[in-house]
Amino acid sequence: MRALITAGGRGTRLRPLTHTSNKHLIPIANKPMIHYALEAVAAAGIRDVGIVLNPDTGEEIRQGLGDGAAWGLAITYVMQEAPLGLAHVIQAAEGFLRGEPFVFFLGDNVVVGGIRQFVERFEARGDHCHLVLARVRDPQRFGVAEVQADRIVRLVEKPARPASEFAVTGIYVYGPPIFEAVHAIRPSARGELEITDAHQYLLDHGFRVGFSEITGWWKDTGKPEDLLEANRFVLDQVLDATGPVIRGQVDAQSDVAGKVVVEAGARVIASQIRGPAIIGEDAVVERSYIGPSTSVGRRCVIRNSELEYSILFEDTQILDADVRIERSLLGREVLIRRGNSRPKTQKFILGDQSTIELA
Ligand code: DAU
Repeated sequence: MRALITAGGRGTRLRPLTHTSNKHLIPIANKPMIHYALEAVAAAGIRDVGIVLNPDTGEEIRQGLGDGAAWGLAITYVMQEAPLGLAHVIQAAEGFLRGEPFVFFLGDNVVVGGIRQFVERFEARGDHCHLVLARVRDPQRFGVAEVQADRIVRLVEKPARPASEFAVTGIYVYGPPIFEAVHAIRPSARGELEITDAHQYLLDHGFRVGFSEITGWWKDTGKPEDLLEANRFVLDQVLDATGPVIRGQVDAQSDVAGKVVVEAGARVIASQIRGPAIIGEDAVVERSYIGPSTSVGRRCVIRNSELEYSILFEDTQILDADVRIERSLLGREVLIRRGNSRPKTQKFILGDQSTIELA
């Protein structure tokens, strides 16, 4: 069994963060999102992993993940020249996959609870394709499975009127017939070779398409609010429930409570931190409040400010902000500070497709 993980695509819904960086490297609990996929694959006992790149941001992924030895994996990089759809991704990786069964894992999906059980069910049932389904409130955002008495009868990609609440997640296990399917289908109206059409082809041609309903927690991090939600959940899951873990320094005037990690070299001075929260290496939090579900990246500085339910990438600074910053995603080297000029006006220097919400 091999694994194929996507790290390409366009990431358009996460702009401007994805103008300068690949979306799969966006930090969730201070760790690049794609690390969670690698960990899940390694925990399922899979060693050979293909990672699909796009020409624009591929180098950044290669640099970040290397040969995979850090996870006990052997990584092979596969270039997809243009984002022509998920079935096209499989076509692009055929040389690596060598006609063998494999797990296809969309690198922007975060799953807690592992994937081993899905691989085992695929094998035990003798499926040609095993889909992992999740009940969601907004199925129109996903591939949707119509299930009748324990069988999938139809699959539709992002239907306007979904026939069920079952979203097809980005975790699939395949046998060799998927190669026939990805070559047989034609591009959809949006010009992509849709993975959902390949699945429907398998159903139509009598192949065994089984499914599992996800038991753990799962999120497709397609939109900014999904990232915040994934960060909230992962922080709550992975941080030590017995109390704060302090590897850096917390002074006597500070109050740190709940599931909190203060990484090595970080300094917390005269501040309040309410977990779950993580303060990255060499960050400084001074005379500030950090509330639940917040990840502060390496070398960030928060001074005389209040921050909650947010993700800060590395080297970002919030200085003397006199409003509480909440539900925010701040990329690298962002600076938010109070200005002292008169008249008192708001000043912005924003890149393309930035969002600001004023109180
Ligand atoms: O997350 C589950 C959903 O993923 C499924 O319910 C849908 O049926 C499936 O089509 C897919 O929908 P998305 O709209 O979320 O796919 P997205 O374009 O975001 O791409 C998913 C991943 O695949 C992401 O890691 C980017 C990568 N990708 C995507 C395309 C279209 C590529 O590497 N190459 C591509 O050509």
